Amino acid sequence: MAYAAFRSIGAYVPSKILSNEDLSKMVDTTDEWITKRTGIKERHIAAENEFTSDMGTKAAEIAIQRSGIDKSKIDMIICATISPDYFCMPSTATIISTKLGLGNVTAFDISAACTGFVYVLSIAKAFIESGMKKNVLIIGAEKLSSITDYTDRGTCILFGDGAGAALISATDNKTEAIIDVHTGADGTFADLLMTPNGGSGSMHDTLDQEAKSCFMQMKGNETFKVAVKTLTKDVVEILQDNNIDSSEIKHFVPHQANLRIIKAVGDALKLKEEQVVLTVEKYGNTSGASIPMAINDIYESGKLNAGELMLLDAFGGGLTWGSALVPFSPLK
Ligand code: UT7
Repeated sequence: MAYAAFRSIGAYVPSKILSNEDLSKMVDTTDEWITKRTGIKERHIAAENEFTSDMGTKAAEIAIQRSGIDKSKIDMIICATISPDYFCMPSTATIISTKLGLGNVTAFDISAACTGFVYVLSIAKAFIESGMKKNVLIIGAEKLSSITDYTDRGTCILFGDGAGAALISATDNKTEAIIDVHTGADGTFADLLMTPNGGSGSMHDTLDQEAKSCFMQMKGNETFKVAVKTLTKDVVEILQDNNIDSSEIKHFVPHQANLRIIKAVGDALKLKEEQVVLTVEKYGNTSGASIPMAINDIYESGKLNAGELMLLDAFGGGLTWGSALVPFSPLK
């Protein structure tokens, strides 16, 4: 049987920074409030002519180069995004495949909001284990600034842009394989976090009048409570299912939505501070890109070494959630 191994990571962060100070000049907020309630100090914003696919391509190029796998061997690309270049078609994954100069590959996007990266990881694992694919490039890329309402202080302080990518490849060595991936969703909470307009479910006569309804809207406080409960439950279950103790986790990489959510989950799981990966302060919430961007951060700071076990944990609009037990298994 083929197993799926997490070979490499890459990320891209746009250069423009939007600080809490900047936001306090745009909406009724303060650096103190944002820092205390979210842990965020700044977020990066893509240039006007810089699209989700551009950021995804840059992250992917780094992941491919670090993997040591020739790009001609890549047979599938999946992009997790809620801010695609085009809402209907073509998919951002197909645009990225062309920008990377890849030939005939399977390419598609998935929509699972902030859980997107865990979802694409589960798809890559399943395709590789079934023998259908051998080298799958997974990407989380977001230009959330394009769907953020910068007059709504409840959301605009949270979100940023960026991309992360990883190469997942087939192996017959079980010790380097992704151990498990859990994914779930509950649409009864759909209204907590949504972009109400712009799709077939929206009222077209309100589209022009209510351009803002194409932007993200969130019932933040309710989302917060469901997030803490769901993230904790999901991690407890994946650890129990695989007989792994939380002390065996070298890097807990949660979705970077809010420092208070991450701390509450970390405390509930009795994780030590050094196990918890934090990037929310400098990138804010980058939805599907947040987990691979955080993995890239520990990689680039020399903290992620071959064989170390990562626990990924995500939660987002849908509502969706997921977790994964992933050893870092570079080829070289
Ligand atoms: O990524 C996927 C899922 N998303 C999440 O997990 C995000 C979850 N939610 C959150 O992170 C938090 O709920 C927020 C950061 C969005 C909000 O924090 P909160 O502690 O839940 O605040 P709240 O919504 O309960 O609002 C408390 C007060 C309100 O004022 P009153 O009614 O008490 O007078 C808000 O109007 O804070 C006010 N407020 C603000 N004040 C200054 C809300 N946003 C701001 C702001 N600056 N930016």
